[in-house]
Order: sequence, then C-alpha cells, then structure tokens
Amino acid sequence: MLDTIKTKVETRRTFAIISHPDAGKTTITEQLLLFGGVVREAGTVKGRKSGKFATSDWMEIEKKRGISVTSSVMQFDYDGKRINILDTPGHEDFSEDTYRTLMAVDSAVMVIDSAKGIEPQTKKLFQICKMRGIPIFTFINKLDRDGREPLDLLGEIEDVLGIETYPMNWPIGMGKGLKGLFDIYNNRVELFRKGEGSRYLKLNDSNDIDPEEPLHSDSIWQDTRDEVELIQSAGNELSEEKVASGELTPVFFGSALVNFGVETFLKAYLEFAPGPTAHKTREGQLVTPLDEQFSGFVFKIQANMNPNHRDRIAFVRICSGEFDRGMDVTLERNQKVLRLNNSTQFMAEERENVDRAVAGDIIGLYDTGNFQIGDTIYSGNDDFQFEELPQFTPELFVRVTPKNVMKQKSFHKGIEQLVQEGAIQLFRSYTSNEYVLGAVGQLQFEVFQFRMENEYHSDVIMETMGSKIARWIDPDQLDENMASSRNLLVKDRDGQPLFLFENQFAENWFTQKYPNVKLTSKL
Ligand code: G4P
Repeated sequence: MLDTIKTKVETRRTFAIISHPDAGKTTITEQLLLFGGVVREAGTVKGRKSGKFATSDWMEIEKKRGISVTSSVMQFDYDGKRINILDTPGHEDFSEDTYRTLMAVDSAVMVIDSAKGIEPQTKKLFQICKMRGIPIFTFINKLDRDGREPLDLLGEIEDVLGIETYPMNWPIGMGKGLKGLFDIYNNRVELFRKGEGSRYLKLNDSNDIDPEEPLHSDSIWQDTRDEVELIQSAGNELSEEKVASGELTPVFFGSALVNFGVETFLKAYLEFAPGPTAHKTREGQLVTPLDEQFSGFVFKIQANMNPNHRDRIAFVRICSGEFDRGMDVTLERNQKVLRLNNSTQFMAEERENVDRAVAGDIIGLYDTGNFQIGDTIYSGNDDFQFEELPQFTPELFVRVTPKNVMKQKSFHKGIEQLVQEGAIQLFRSYTSNEYVLGAVGQLQFEVFQFRMENEYHSDVIMETMGSKIARWIDPDQLDENMASSRNLLVKDRDGQPLFLFENQFAENWFTQKYPNVKLTSKL
C-alpha cells in the first residue's frame, strides 16, 4: 500500500507559471496541455480567455474532456509524470491569491517576453519564489519575433533578480532570421524549420554540425558558436544543487506560439524539477510526503460566483498521506471533525483516480464556511499545524461604508466573510474606526462590491484612496501625533498599527523625521 503511494508521490510535479501579463503564460500552458493530451486543439485555452467561446460552450467542452482547463489547477500526465499546473491569475485579477498559490507549489516556471525582459509583475512573483527557496526555471518566449540580445537578457535576470543563470539552449538567430536552437544541454541543434530532414542535428566534439548541412554555411551559425563558446567559458556551471535551492535558474529559449522549444523545455524541466517536498509545522517538525497520516493546508478559497449558491471551494495542497474521498479529517483551528465527501479534483483524461490523491496534488473541497486560508487539516490523532502563510502588503486602498446605515449587520457580516477569503485585507482607521480595504489588484474591489450587493444584500459606497505604501510600526514606538496629512494611521485585523503613506517621498520624510522608529512591511 505504502509502496504504491510512494510510486505515485514520486511522479508528482506541481508548479506555477510566473510572468507579467502578455508574456505568453496562457499560450505556453496550452502547449503543455496539448503535450499532455488534455486539449486537442490549439486555441482552446486562449479562446476562453479572449471570450471567443461563450461560457456555456466552454462548460460543454470541459464536460466532454473531463477536465476543467479554466480552473485554477490543471493536471495532466507526461513522460510518466503527473503534472499539476497551478494558475496564478495575472492582469487585473492579480491578488493575494496569486501570491499564495506560490506557497502550494514545489517549483516555478518564469516566462519572459524576449523583447521586454523582466517586467514588474514577474519581479514581484519571483521574489516570493526566492523567499521560499524553490527551484525556478526560465522560459524566454517569443523568439519568432525580434527581441533583445540573449546575453543582455541573461544579464538582466542576474542583475535585477539576483539569481544565477545557466542557458540550457541558445537561439540561432531570432525573428524572421530564427534558424533554431543550439541545444547546449542535449548537445544538438534543434532546427526551426526542419525541411526534409530531421528536426535535430548532432553536434560533434568541436560543437559543430555536419558541413553538408545548409545551416553550416550561414554566418549566423558561426556567430552562435562563438557566443556559446563565450558563455561556456565565462558563464556559470550547471549545478543541480544550485537549481534545487533556487540559486541558479536554467534558462530556455523558444516560442510558445509556434510551439518551438516548448517540448524540449518540458522534458528538461521534468528532469530537474523536484517532486513534492516536506512542509514545516509551527511545532518545528517536518511533515514529509510519505508520512502515512494524511495532511494538507488551505491556500486559496474561491467563491462560487453563482449568487444562488453561497458555497465556496477551499483549495487544499496535500502534504502527506493519501486523500480518500469520504475520509474524516480534523480541522486543526477548531478541532472539528469533517467528512470529506464533497471534493473535486482537477484531473487529466482519466477519471478513475478521482477519489484519491497524494502529496503534491491539489483537491478542491466544497465549503459552506468551515475553512479559512492557512487552515491545516489532517487525519489521525497527531495534532499539528502547518506554518502560517505569509501576509502580503496590499498596494491599493478604498474607504468603504454601507449605503444604508440601518443595514450595519449584513455589512459587517459580508465584510468579515469576504475578508476571510483573503483576496482583500481589512483595516480600521485609528481615530474614526472607519473601514479601509486594501488589495493587491483593483479587480478585488469590484468583486467585493458585487458580492456585497448580491450575496449579502448590502450596498456599499467605495471611495478610492489610490495606491499607498503600507508600513507596520511597533505599537510601543507609536505616537498618534506621527499621523500627518501625508499618511493615514490604521490598524489591521489583529489590531496592529500601520501607516499608509501617500508615496515614497512621504515614507522617506517620515523615516528622516523619526530615525529610531522601525517600519516594516509584509512580503
Ligand atoms: P499571458 O497569458 O501571459 O497574458 O499571455 P498570452 O499567452 O495570452 O499571450 C499574449 C500575446 O502574446 C498573445 O497575442 C499571444 O498570441 C502572443 N504570444 C504568446 N507567445 C508568443 C510567441 O511565442 N510568439 C509571438 N509572436 N507571440 C506570442 P495577442 O495578440 O494578445 O492575442 P491573440 O489575438 O494572438 O490571441
């Protein structure tokens, strides 16, 4: 029994794609699902995103395939591995959920637009991965278009993100002049347009191809060889340990749109990416994936946007043991015993395993209000709690008040429950006790307003405060006179004081005025 669990656990690869909007995350996800045989036509995932399919058509498609490609977790099998891709909402959906999802993965794939390099959202998401010390793999996308010089891009990754790079392959030309990839890791050339012959050309001992090959007489070939020689003599070594600890990122080039270099990336990724890792408890112990006792933690709660149903789905990352539908688990926070009958898994084509899942997998539990983000669940008697999930510093703020002052009760209930889901944070002004909401992305406020009206019948007035810099202060150092027109003093849900500064200038001004006061941010 345990042996079969071990075999299953070892096949799991659970990761998220981090990128700035438009770098190509959806396109690459779709290619990966194609390799996994989960979707059969290109354009299906994109079609959903761009609204080319009506939702109902889309649900029909999902039903037929038995998988929800629109969902937050996509699972498929490839090369003997079971892969779980966790979606990290980008664009205006960008929220704490996006950050927290990174707490539930064992590695991350960073997709970069070759013309744009490191963009702000990539940087933010990267920092969370770095903090966790998980392996990060880089895919530099859109090689079919003219982009920046590869050396320049690697230099930027190293300087801006502070991680070493190792190119697994190197572009031979780009844009209209793209000829292929010098596949350093596999010691071959992967041709862009393969023509009659094979897609791959062997490299000889002097890193050259057969002189008969048409590419050989192209000046770009010699240029690429020179570049590769340079990076091989002056660049970093590929160190498995450094990859595992997140100190070095293997870098792949390619084009998701024309499906070039993606499979090469996937195969190498699967060689290096770790399986499920151990998780720390607050008691300082390590829960390893092969521990017999089932355990997991809630990293995301998603509301069902159907106003007729108040139910929500709690996403649980399994950390140990085996999930068996119908099993009893203890919810650590209140020691309630819950029977997990109503669960959903995000499966590949085969549905037979739907009732069982192991470490590395994500299950969705239908929830009527039992779960909170960060909750630990476990089977058996050994009582423990996983480490607290980090809190993130919100960047956008609004003041919120009920339109109808007679409806305070539903207003408070709604806010309390929606804040529990974690996409928004609640603050109270120090002096007037008014409500201030903070979020990482604008859309969260709109969702909040919509749901307050539809689910709690509470119309709210939202007054935009714009972006602020939130900095916590030690209560012992706080003097209420420190509040000024350039900052707002509020307290968080735990009663801890913090300032919302208008801008960087206001924060600098404050730190100069009060040099001994320590200001801190969350992540
Ligand atoms: P995202 O999920 O990271 O936001 O990016 P997405 O995959 O939606 O890609 C953003 C745009 O970049 C899309 O174009 C997509 O077709 C394009 N793209 C993705 N990968 C590549 C690539 O390898 N090469 C080139 N040339 N383009 C790529 P769009 O015009 O916004 O959408 P669509 O009209 O093509 O659907």
